[in-house]
Amino acid sequence: MASFLPETDSEDELPPGWEERVTLDGKVFYANHETKSTQWMHPSSGKKKKVSGELPYGWERQVTDDGHVFYIDHVNQKTTYTDPRLAFSVEEKDSVDDFRQRFDGSSTALQVLHGRDLSGKVAIVTGSNSGIGFETARSFAFHGAEVVLACRSEVKAQQAIEEIKKERPQAKLHYLHLDLASLQSVQVFSQQFQFLGLPLHILILNAGVFSLPHSLTEDGLETTFQVNYLGHFYLVQLLEPILVKSAPAKVVVLSSESHRFSLLSKDKLSEERLSPSISTNFVSMIAYNNSKLCNILFSNELNRRLLSKGVLSNAVHPGNLVCSNLSRNWWCYRLLFTLVRPFTKSLFFFSNRLQLLVSTVQQHQSWMMLEGCILTTAVDASLPKVLKTQILLKNYGP
Ligand SMILES: NC(=O)c1ccc[n+]([C@@H]2O[C@H](COP(=O)([O-])OP(=O)(O)OC[C@H]3O[C@@H](n4cnc5c(N)ncnc54)[C@H](OP(=O)(O)O)[C@@H]3O)[C@@H](O)[C@H]2O)c1
Repeated sequence: MASFLPETDSEDELPPGWEERVTLDGKVFYANHETKSTQWMHPSSGKKKKVSGELPYGWERQVTDDGHVFYIDHVNQKTTYTDPRLAFSVEEKDSVDDFRQRFDGSSTALQVLHGRDLSGKVAIVTGSNSGIGFETARSFAFHGAEVVLACRSEVKAQQAIEEIKKERPQAKLHYLHLDLASLQSVQVFSQQFQFLGLPLHILILNAGVFSLPHSLTEDGLETTFQVNYLGHFYLVQLLEPILVKSAPAKVVVLSSESHRFSLLSKDKLSEERLSPSISTNFVSMIAYNNSKLCNILFSNELNRRLLSKGVLSNAVHPGNLVCSNLSRNWWCYRLLFTLVRPFTKSLFFFSNRLQLLVSTVQQHQSWMMLEGCILTTAVDASLPKVLKTQILLKNYGP
């Protein structure tokens, strides 16, 4: 029986005498040593494959005097004749809808970015001193991106930078102060970023608060609403010219599945509902859900407006009850997050969805979110257009 079975269950396995190679611009082809012929299609599966044009971060291509190409991995001090991009080849698709899932809920952020070279790319991650934002900044830095940690605490941001530099001393990291509870701070942040003279290819709107009791910011707005949504909304407005100039660029907005439990609706939309001025009847969980719905609506509208200018925006749900610092504001949530910890995954896993959006999702419709690395429909799709417009076009801002 065993002799009737193939020796390997991998459809990518090459028959004897074949070798996989890749052209400089990333097209995979197959060489047959016996017949001395080459072809684009895999000799067994018939599939065509491609790799990204760039080498993974830290790799260099060199040519010997007699014309042989070889590759140097400067991070691990290795040399090989095999093109390292072949480890990350993907099937060529005829249509973007022909989507094959390459990652799932157990893929880590570093796995998703594995093989990617982000050198020359600049990323801003808000709230990157802790939790999902920290893992995201760390993974970007590991892959060569220059990362701006946009945080409200200099001490915590510097600690985060030191931690990343312990593992990658050459990481390019900056700290810039950003307090989303102050629209003036958002403005100053944007000016300081412009002063650095850097382009902006990836903007991760990650910072957030959860289960915060009612309070008003210096701008007189409810804090959860301003930190989770409005501050980011304003930040993107100010950075939009740089994003467009740096295109192709991507914006990723951290939302949550809990947006489905928002109480906002067409009939119940008012400034007072979005940003309650008094604590009577204030429920922090509802404020959080509302802010996360606003995040999705904003992301989608941004995508609609800027896609043609080369700026893609997506909202993402990073996972449920991820054990970060998010639960810090109420002991009940701290207890809940701790109790479920053995059943949820670590931050390494949860930042993967965000990475996935940045690294692979290109032209999918903007209202898709990633849950377990699968594209799903957010509640946004069924919301009346008038509600979306009302939330977006209200005259907030200093
Ligand atoms: N963890 C989950 O299960 C989960 C689920 C769904 C969605 N999310 C979303 O994922 C994102 C990241 O959350 P996380 O779990 O990584 O939480 P986290 O560890 O608490 O990180 C939140 C970050 O936001 C920063 N932040 C808070 N207020 C700020 C302000 N006024 N200005 C600037 N930064 C501020 C925090 O800075 P400080 O350290 O200085 O406070 C921290 O760096 C949030 O948007 C959250 O809504 C998380």
